Amino acid sequence: MQAIDQLKSDLLQQIEAAEELATLEGIRVDALGKKGVISEQLKQLGAMPAEERKSFGQAINEVKQIVADAIAAKADILQASALAAKLASESVDVTLPVPAVSGGRYHPLTRTIEEISAIFADMGFSVAEGPDVETDYYNFTALNIPPEHPARQEHDTFYLEPDETGARPVLRTQTSPVQIRTMEASEPPIRIIAPGRTYRSDHDATHSPMFHQCEGLVIGTDIHMGHLKGCLIEFCQAFFGVEDLPVRFRPSFFPFTEPSAEVDIGCSRKDGGLKIGAGDDWLEILGSGMVHPQVLRNCGYDPDKVQGFAFGMGIERLAMLKYGIPDLRTFYETDLRWMRHYGFMGHDVPALHTGIVG
Ligand code: DAH
Repeated sequence: MQAIDQLKSDLLQQIEAAEELATLEGIRVDALGKKGVISEQLKQLGAMPAEERKSFGQAINEVKQIVADAIAAKADILQASALAAKLASESVDVTLPVPAVSGGRYHPLTRTIEEISAIFADMGFSVAEGPDVETDYYNFTALNIPPEHPARQEHDTFYLEPDETGARPVLRTQTSPVQIRTMEASEPPIRIIAPGRTYRSDHDATHSPMFHQCEGLVIGTDIHMGHLKGCLIEFCQAFFGVEDLPVRFRPSFFPFTEPSAEVDIGCSRKDGGLKIGAGDDWLEILGSGMVHPQVLRNCGYDPDKVQGFAFGMGIERLAMLKYGIPDLRTFYETDLRWMRHYGFMGHDVPALHTGIVG
């Protein structure tokens, strides 16, 4: 019996002294595990005389219970202090300054293309595409600009090496070939815009050898100049965000439209600044016209049955006017300081209201 008391107090002392859960678990295994001291004592019960077995059995079972309870109580304490230590070591100092995150920006051209697309999407247009490397046929001939036409000289075309037939592919000088590709591939009614890269050998503050245009094409039965005017007036007012923006249609010439009109918006200039809106001056912003009957015929359409209008605008020019960017070349200099100044945060980019199909 004395030995049992001794065992009990030894074990309770060890439990009391344990500072880690692992130590406590070791004590548990050594005492109560299959081969633990208490378990070994219990195993001897069977061999004892009945009288002794009763009192010894009672005593050792009591010790077993006391030791098990003490281990459980100590485990609770150690677990709580381990948690407290963990919380203390992982605490976050909310008063620390946040490291500056330099977010990316949307390029003003991306933004402008999104804006143009959103406005035309609301008018039921979808987006069409064509290749940057074009054939002479799509870039010129099908658009009613035959081989010796003087308009070809104005385009400062980049020609590529001749192919096996001797024909020289061109970097498209305008997005207008997408008109032809769209008409060849689909039936009226057609209502598309085609934003994309274009190329001309030209480089100064308002020209870059690679730049962007957005083409537009509407084909259907009974489409007339009134539709052209309504559509483009609405576009100009929405794009510049000026409700009563004056829009002027000035007679012009393009080989692929007849009649043709250049579109000007009202502006005023004061102290070297330019203000868009009703004023005493005009700014040219896009070209347009009724699709030339020969162009319709080139695409297999009967000009007596379908008509339409087309337009084309320079995206850099629109972005420069809207966002006050003075030099076109800076669009392509990939200068981060410029991007931080003229770029747009993600949430600034307009959502497309009706979405784009195509
Ligand atoms: N392609 C013309 C250019 O690059 C712009 C243009 C004018 C496109 C009139 C059109 C249009 O579709 O109808 O200068």
